[in-house]
Amino acid sequence: MNDLTQPFKRLPVALIGTGSYVPEHRLTNADLEKMVDTSNEWIVERTGIKERRIAAPDEKPSDMATNAARKAMEAAGVTPEEIDLIIVGTVTPDTFTPSTACYVQANLGAVNAAAFDISAACSSFLYALKIAVQFIGCGQAKTALIISSEKLSHIVNWEDRATCVLFGDGAGAAVLRTGTGKEGDSAILASDIGSDGTLTDLLLVPGGGSAIPTTEANIHEKLYTLAMRGNEVFRHAVEHMKNSALSLISRTGIKPEDISLVIPHQANLRIINAVTSRIGIPPEKVFVNLQKYGNTSGAACAIALDEAVRSGRAKKGDLILMVTFGAGLTWSSAAIRL
Ligand code: COA
Repeated sequence: MNDLTQPFKRLPVALIGTGSYVPEHRLTNADLEKMVDTSNEWIVERTGIKERRIAAPDEKPSDMATNAARKAMEAAGVTPEEIDLIIVGTVTPDTFTPSTACYVQANLGAVNAAAFDISAACSSFLYALKIAVQFIGCGQAKTALIISSEKLSHIVNWEDRATCVLFGDGAGAAVLRTGTGKEGDSAILASDIGSDGTLTDLLLVPGGGSAIPTTEANIHEKLYTLAMRGNEVFRHAVEHMKNSALSLISRTGIKPEDISLVIPHQANLRIINAVTSRIGIPPEKVFVNLQKYGNTSGAACAIALDEAVRSGRAKKGDLILMVTFGAGLTWSSAAIRL
């Protein structure tokens, strides 16, 4: 989906603050060696992951989202009352209804905000960004909070070595606001989202919804946990992330050498290396933190963005390319001037 061919003039949109939160508890590869038939060597070699964070039993996705949001709002210098839109991307909502975004709104006291959730799996943060850009660009919102928060530990099958080593918990957030449109000021330059619903069966939680409601039998079969065909997901991830990034680069006229930093979805180091080498970005321009957190779904690129900003890897004026991929299948990318 192309937002550069819009038939009417839009307001510019700036990114004015980021925040993130990860739970305290670290689950290391050594811990996993005691739980399933795996090894630190296998996990590091095949994925790059060394440890992941696991939320406390009573720690909800809305709690993690609220923590990340508070940091983003502090960085942006905005009050809760100024927020007029809250979008939360999650596949592990606190409750099926109401939305996790409504819990976050209450926690923050963001009394003037409309709040809703979206479901785009690991692509949700950039889907939320795209939606918020439409609201702000059309003058329907001024200050938006976009968040992705996941408690994937809740839907992981801890007896399945092929999936349980991959995922972790956490939340990332950003504040978007009507921009100045001035050269050099922060701007969301372009974004791309896409999906392929013919491949829903590659990565899904089959049970617990209306199609296969929870029963005693399917709890036993663990139908409420993530099921994945890893090899195929890997192949599609590389292809779609590469295509989404390249389409954004060609539509915006950005040259790969203009990009200061690529912040990709943090699922697997081999996926990241395959994608970035195919789009002509050298490793030193790629932000990777999956060794610390594993794959936190939509939160992964949001946490990485915040860490890149706070560590100084991404600075004001830098051109950032973000690109993600997830269940659905879904994919998304964004070019952001910080
Ligand atoms: N420890 C040790 N061995 C493991 C293992 C683990 N944690 N998980 C799988 N294996 C084994 C398999 O059983 C298989 O053994 P076999 O050859 O005896 O059957 C062998 O390792 C190779 O499995 P395979 O699935 O082909 O490995 P792979 O190189 O494709 O790596 C993934 C597996 C899951 C790491 C990889 O496919 C992947 O990252 N896919 C994308 C997943 C992803 O990113 N999902 C989220 C998208 S948002």
